[in-house]
Formats: sequence, structure tokens, C-alpha cells
Amino acid sequence: MTKYKIAWLPGDGIGNDVMDAARIVLDALEVDAEYLPGDVGWEFWRTEGDALPERTVELLKSTDCCLFGAITSKPKQEAERELVPELQGKDLVYFSPIVRIRQVLDLHTNMRPCKAYAGNPLNYRDDVDLVVFRENTEGLYSGVEFHPLPDEVRRALTDSHPRMARFGNVPADEIAISCRIFTKKGCRRIVRQAFEYAKRFGRPTVTVVEKPNVIRETSGMMVREARNVAKEYPGIELWETNVDAMAMWLVKNPQDYSVLVSSNMFGDIISDLCAQLVGGLGFASSANIGDNYALFEPTHGSAPKYAGQYKVNPTAMLLTVKLMLDWLGEVDQARRLEEAIAQVIAEGKVRTYDMGGTSSTLEVAQAVASSL
Ligand code: NAI
Ligand code: MG
Repeated sequence: MTKYKIAWLPGDGIGNDVMDAARIVLDALEVDAEYLPGDVGWEFWRTEGDALPERTVELLKSTDCCLFGAITSKPKQEAERELVPELQGKDLVYFSPIVRIRQVLDLHTNMRPCKAYAGNPLNYRDDVDLVVFRENTEGLYSGVEFHPLPDEVRRALTDSHPRMARFGNVPADEIAISCRIFTKKGCRRIVRQAFEYAKRFGRPTVTVVEKPNVIRETSGMMVREARNVAKEYPGIELWETNVDAMAMWLVKNPQDYSVLVSSNMFGDIISDLCAQLVGGLGFASSANIGDNYALFEPTHGSAPKYAGQYKVNPTAMLLTVKLMLDWLGEVDQARRLEEAIAQVIAEGKVRTYDMGGTSSTLEVAQAVASSL
């Protein structure tokens, strides 16, 4: 019996390329784990009408955590056209497997570290070291949306809120509503994760990024909950910043910030900005964390034009493996891996195309493995 059972989901496109790279370093680290492959992605949508077959959900439930590559998704009509003939016309609707996994396994916390490693020619500045905590299950991604606007929804809103009167005469087909749903529980747990991280790694500040002056009820709830949680962490300062100003500050003085926490949509946007400060998609790792399970994936997608060419930068995936090792409690191996990645970047001899080099995905992984 191995110590860990890890679900292994390469998915589509370069997901496979970077998972092969991950395997090289995991084997070199001699992690005591069994890797159990699972089906996910476009091929399974096309042939089975489900990008996340039930057997894969069962696999996830029987493992300790999951390492995930990337998936391809396409707009509704295109998705339907690509179904095999037997599945056409059956009203199957494509749903993102990664969004579904987050919901089914309640992976409420999305964590995205963005650190500038010395010697990376793509760094915006060399002293950026940010970690974004993004709420992963609520907010504007709740999926409660209306178009055309049903009469009963319009009536309920008009009866309960004076500001709705302004939209009273807009025809149902010309008005759309997406609900931004926050719960105190959701706010509390994302803020708590941010503070726990700050405490564990000695971070001086946590910045809550919202817009409570305008979006009073939802952003207001997040900020109030942040103030409450902050009381339990006397050594760590809580900063409050509006999301629009945050975008500006991150371009001006990213080195002043440390841990950021935000809701689903704002967190998504801000974390992409942060990723670009430290080299972009080739360097952006992420963890989806729940109370008892976690899924680790690079932020990038399946980049179809590079699929199977082993050209893309595996660093995002290797940093993702580091997050997984940290979460499993294998902190020494996590630290060794990060040091090896940092060393390869600093030496600058083995670089993929995005860093101006010509090395392959697997050559970078092998260089990291040799540096361990
Ligand atoms: P993408 O992230 O796949 O690629 C965009 C571009 O970024 C690539 O063409 C490439 O130039 C660069 N890039 C990405 N990863 C890189 C790496 N590791 N090293 C160097 N360069 C890299 O985003 P795109 O093209 O918008 O989407 C392609 C597909 O991926 C779509 O079907 C989309 O829905 C899906 N996607 C999936 C995600 C996921 O699995 N979580 C996230 C984002 C997109
Ligand atoms: Mg994004």
C-alpha cells in the first residue's frame, strides 16, 4: 500500500504534456503515491455526452487528492455539433467538468500563488510574492441566471426592491440577470483560509479585495466577515481595497501586497493580473481546496495549438505539484521541489519558448529533477 492515492487527470491538449512533466519530478522525488488515471475532457463529451463521467467522480471520491491538467471547452452550439451522431439531438448540455468538480466536492477555496523567481526574464518586478485566495463556489459563478426574464422573477424583484422600477418596461427578452450570491459561511471560510495561510507562512497582511461602497450587500458582507475573522489573528493586519483600485495598485506597487482574498469573479480577474506580473500562464499554479479533498491544476488551459508538441512551459504544473505536496503535508519535498524549480529558472540554461528558449517541456522537467 502506498501512502497516498492520487487521481491523475491529464484532460485535453497540453494537459497531457505538462502531466508527463509532473510525473518526472514526482518520480524523482520518490513520493510514496499511487497515481490513478481518470477520464475527463472533450473526448468524453463527444463520445459519451459527459466531460466528467460518473466513474471519474467515483475515482475522485476514492482518492486523497487530484492532479489535473487542463480541459478544452467550447461554446454551446459548437459543443453540440461535435457530439458523435448517436448523441446528437438528445438535448445534452455541455457543463465544465472543473466547475462541476468544484461544486460536487465543495472545493470552496481557490488558491493562486504568484511569486517572481529570480532570473525569470518575464518578471514584471523581481520582488513580487502574492497569494490570491478566491472564493470558488458562490458569487457570480453561482449559475443562477435569467434570460429571458421570467414574469414571476420580475414581479418578485419589483415588489421587493424600489430600484427595480427603472427596468419595469424592458421586454423579458431584452433584460438579463445574473445573481451574485454570497453566504456568510462562504465569506468566512475563504477569509479564514487566507488568514490561516498568512499565519502559517508568516505573512504580514491580508488584503480583502471587494467593492463595498457600491455593491453594498455582497461585497459588504465579505468585508464585514473579514473584519470579524481578522480579530482572531492579532499579528496580521487586514487591509481593505476596492477591486478597481487594487488593479491599479498591483501595477504600481505589487511588492507592497502579500495575501489577497476576494470573491469568485473579482478573485478570478485579480489573480490573472497577478499571474502576469510573474511571467504569465507558464508560471501560474493553483489549488482548489475543500475541507477533506483538494484538486491541483495549473491556471492555463489546454492550448490546443501546442497540444502534444511538448513545447509549453511545465513550470506552472511543477509549482502546482509543489502545492499538492504542501497540502499533503510533505513539506520537505515541497520545499525541495520549489528550490529545484527556482534553481533551474535562475540558471537560465533550460528554457521553453515563452522565456525565449528552445527547450522542451520534458527537458525543463528533467532539469528540475536533476536539481532536486
Ligand atoms: P490557454 O491557457 O489554453 O492558452 C492560451 C495561450 O497561452 C496559449 O496559446 C499559449 O500561447 C499560452 N500558454 C498557455 N499555457 C502555457 C504554458 N504552460 N507555457 C507557455 N505558454 C502557455 O487558453 P485559451 O487558448 O484561451 O483556451 C484554450 C482551451 O482551454 C479552451 O478550450 C478553454 O476553454 C480551455 N481552458 C481551460 C482551462 C482549464 O482547464 N482550467 C482554463 C482556461 C482555458
Ligand atoms: Mg481565469
